[in-house]
Amino acid sequence: MSVHGEVKRVTTNTLQSMKMRGEKISMLTAYDFSMARIFDDAGIDVILVGDSASNVMAGHETTLPITLDQMIYHAQSVVRACLRCLVIVDLPFGSYQGNSKEALNSSIRIMKEAGAHGIKLEGGDEVCESIKRIVGAGVPVMGHLGLTPQSIYKFGTYTVRAKEEEEAERLIKNAHALEEAGIFCLVLEKIPAALGARVASELRIPVIGIGAGGGVDGQVLVMHDMLGITKDFSPRFLRRYLNLYEEISNATKQYIGDVKSKDFPSEKEQY
Ligand code: KIV
Repeated sequence: MSVHGEVKRVTTNTLQSMKMRGEKISMLTAYDFSMARIFDDAGIDVILVGDSASNVMAGHETTLPITLDQMIYHAQSVVRACLRCLVIVDLPFGSYQGNSKEALNSSIRIMKEAGAHGIKLEGGDEVCESIKRIVGAGVPVMGHLGLTPQSIYKFGTYTVRAKEEEEAERLIKNAHALEEAGIFCLVLEKIPAALGARVASELRIPVIGIGAGGGVDGQVLVMHDMLGITKDFSPRFLRRYLNLYEEISNATKQYIGDVKSKDFPSEKEQY
């Protein structure tokens, strides 16, 4: 709480302080008002409106098809729900790779139309010019290295990245370049734990991992995976806290049965 009795908001400075004092940062994805309200109320530090919405909300095989307009729609719903946490929104594929002006314009749309607190984009030194321009306009930027799903057709697989020394060295160089360019935080996806720990210890900014081990400054999971809504996706890094697929399926079957048997609605459930 602040001195005015309002909830104290998580800011980019809060995350920096958390790193300094060794407090781990919790981050989850969300794409709609109701789930974001539950996560915010439960005390999550950061909500990422991820372009994984393309997979888990829209049913696409990759993150590539989702548009900037669609990301803004999801982000508006999430921002409306959040009183405390920091809300970061992914720049979708095709909305920033063209040039730094395009990247800035897409970021400004997300900040103005959704009321987000910052953006995330994927890539290393090739996006540094864009990062400088976006940060220069006052927009906090989160980086993303390791497995970068927007480049899936370049890599061909979703397997662990940077296992070989050459790729690991490139990742470390890119992480430093991104920090130099001005990112406030870095996501590392699906890389060896030792490499995650090394990057987190070398960078001043917080490093948040998804499949990057326990030596980083925080963890992120995709909401649908963590809650067990998806059931066919079981990478080693995933811890499921619920089995909602089964629970929702059972509730649905019970409802269907109650309707068919005329058990629902009962006398008490009608006017
Ligand atoms: O889009 C997303 O959900 C992400 C996380 C995997 C970090 O980028």
